[in-house]
Amino acid sequence: MASDQQRCILVTGGAGFIGSHVVRHFVRKYPHYRIINLDKLTYAGHLENLIDVQSAPNYSFVHGDICDLETLRALLREEKVDGIIHLAAESHVDRSIRDPFPFAHTNVIGTLNLLQAVRECWNGQWEGKRFHHVSTDEVYGALKPGETSFEETAPYSPHSPYSASKASSDHFVRAYHDTYGLPVVLTNSSNNYGPYQSPEKLIPLCIHNICENKPLPIYGKGENIRDWLHVQDHVQAIDEVFHRGRDGESYNIGGANEWKNIDVVKMLIRFVDEELGRPSGCSDGLITYITDRAGHDLRYAINAEKLHRELGWAPQHSFESGLRETVRWYLEHADWVQNVTGSAYERYYDEMYGNK
Ligand code: NAD
Ligand code: TYD
Repeated sequence: MASDQQRCILVTGGAGFIGSHVVRHFVRKYPHYRIINLDKLTYAGHLENLIDVQSAPNYSFVHGDICDLETLRALLREEKVDGIIHLAAESHVDRSIRDPFPFAHTNVIGTLNLLQAVRECWNGQWEGKRFHHVSTDEVYGALKPGETSFEETAPYSPHSPYSASKASSDHFVRAYHDTYGLPVVLTNSSNNYGPYQSPEKLIPLCIHNICENKPLPIYGKGENIRDWLHVQDHVQAIDEVFHRGRDGESYNIGGANEWKNIDVVKMLIRFVDEELGRPSGCSDGLITYITDRAGHDLRYAINAEKLHRELGWAPQHSFESGLRETVRWYLEHADWVQNVTGSAYERYYDEMYGNK
């Protein structure tokens, strides 16, 4: 699939964390593409994430819901969309534990709507078309003792309502490929970090709380392990797979960068205190161990060898420098943090963590 031709790409969820980086990357790198960002603007979507590209001539925004099949049909026909990069989702495990239904609705039914609208619109004319489904390593479940990392062939074993909904959406994407011939690719990425991530997730939550001298809520003993990937490395991988991935294939995307949660939090404390000129160790006492997350997966690690072998992708950011840059970004964007931690966030935070 050539990157020099004119194209119209619909990015869903482009006002969210990863989606906004995808939109910015494609708008800037491919000025001959039209990029349409379809987003419902839930609590997780912020158009200010895209302020620097909002007036680019090849970018437009549509306020809409992937669960609205008629909107999708009209949009795909009118705009002659020939590529989809699908990121719109409910994405937070803790919210899925509290209420799984929006996860089934958006992640499963929304994805199914999008597949159906695309199938009808492209109507067997698959040449030059591509549906790229962005998914997670969490569909594989937790690694068992002795297992090194997940390959693409690992069986699906989701544990949280979030990962169950993403697994289900992955299956529908494959079903549309196998049954109707829809030209699809899937990517399953490990945990992302970087600018514009909502402060409900571990890294931005801790940066925010360290700045505010608030407790850092660590589930269990903080021994759970995640494989952290800089969001721009994820976006580069999406670019490679969207353009050059093999039809019908899944590609794992991971940082080969496993860390225990407690060690990530300690590094964040060090970086934030250094940036703020505070004495070393002064925020260590903020660490607060709280009751473990229900069904908390102990360890994720992803084997991205296929992506490296077939498409030459490798992560470019080292964790220490990527995390320090991320800390600086949050400190320099206090207005952004303030906007996304308004009263709805405060209510969510109080319900989740109480007085902790
Ligand atoms: P996010 O929560 O920051 O953003 C989600 C975006 O989707 C928001 O802009 C929201 O408004 C939009 N949205 C939600 N429901 C919608 C609907 N019904 N219709 C249209 N738009 C809707 O999420 P994120 O962290 O950027 O994740 C993006 C995608 O990447 C998700 O599919 C997620 O499963 C996947 N993923 C995320 C990570 C991670 O570490 N964050 C890792 C692997 C995969
Ligand atoms: P999170 O950023 O929510 O991503 P995911 O659940 O998709 O991996 O959480 C990352 C890890 O940090 C996970 O093991 C849960 C843990 N965690 C805490 O210990 N405390 C918190 O307040 C949050 C949000 C997460």
